[in-house]
Amino acid sequence: MKALVLCGGKGTRLRPLTYTIPKQLVPVANQPILHYVMGQIHSTGIKEVGVIIAPETGEQIKEALSANPWGFAFTFILQEEPKGLAHAVKVAQDFLNDEPFLMYLGDNLIGESIVPFVEEFKQSDVETMILLKEVEDPKMFGVAAVDETGRVRFLVEKPKEPPSNLALVGIYLFSPAIHKAISEIEPSWRGELEITDAIQRLLEKGKSVKSYILKRWWLDTGKKDDLLEANRVVLDELIKEDLQGEIDEESKVVGRVSLAKGAQVKESTIRGPVVIGEGAMVKNSFIGPYTSVGNGCIIENAALEHSVILDDAKIAEIERLEDSVIGRNAVVSKERRNSQALRLMVGDDAEVLL
Ligand code: G1P
Repeated sequence: MKALVLCGGKGTRLRPLTYTIPKQLVPVANQPILHYVMGQIHSTGIKEVGVIIAPETGEQIKEALSANPWGFAFTFILQEEPKGLAHAVKVAQDFLNDEPFLMYLGDNLIGESIVPFVEEFKQSDVETMILLKEVEDPKMFGVAAVDETGRVRFLVEKPKEPPSNLALVGIYLFSPAIHKAISEIEPSWRGELEITDAIQRLLEKGKSVKSYILKRWWLDTGKKDDLLEANRVVLDELIKEDLQGEIDEESKVVGRVSLAKGAQVKESTIRGPVVIGEGAMVKNSFIGPYTSVGNGCIIENAALEHSVILDDAKIAEIERLEDSVIGRNAVVSKERRNSQALRLMVGDDAEVLL
């Protein structure tokens, strides 16, 4: 079995971060989402991984995978235009050949192993298996109606009146029969060849499609609050105490804190779960739970909590920063002179709430 990981798309919901970082590379607990995806695929034993890339972000995706600690044989496949998930499968047809495959959207983060899902597919004779999750607002997703045995009755993409609250998580298992079904569908109202429509086509042809319901969390890291929530959950579940950086005598580090090599903590308190990246400097500050501080950041005379600070950002003279996402190289600082005026240089689509 092969895997196909989709790293196209524009990531409009995570602007402005996604002007410069593909959404699959937005970090959660200082790791790009895509690395969690690759970790999941690695645990299934799959070795050959096709990665669909877009012209704008392909090089960054390749770079992020270049260390390849999973030992995968990667094939990068260019999708010239974002014409849909089923179109991506079409573009990858030569790579996929006549083998069954796991398809994984590169910006999806889930809180349980996909191994049982993959094993069930291998042992069954169904053409497709889909992963579903109960959600509050299914209208934003593909939605499935299933019977009591888990067989899928029908599927619909972004329905106005959802037939259930079971959303399609972007992780699928396909037999080669999907290629023929894709060749038989038309673009949707949004101009895309929808994988949901291709699976629906399989059902119409009398093929069987089975569902597997995710029990734990799924974060479609689409917006700022989703990203903060993903960061919180991953820090909560995965971070272990690992102090490689330097901590001076005046500092206090409590709880699960991961301090990367070359990071320095001076006259500060860090209360985990927190992750601090390589070469970061924390001075006379408080870093509270559920905060990720990227590589090379400078935090000085500041207090932060429940926030994601990307690489090389600087936060200084800030009494309290909460529920915030700060982009790479950004500076958030208070001037010490006696002035009430704010002086801002805020990029496109940024949000400043004072
Ligand atoms: C895509 C799929 C949708 C699925 C979702 C999961 O939606 O079309 O069926 O529920 O991914 O993230 P999109 O992100 O293209 O709106």
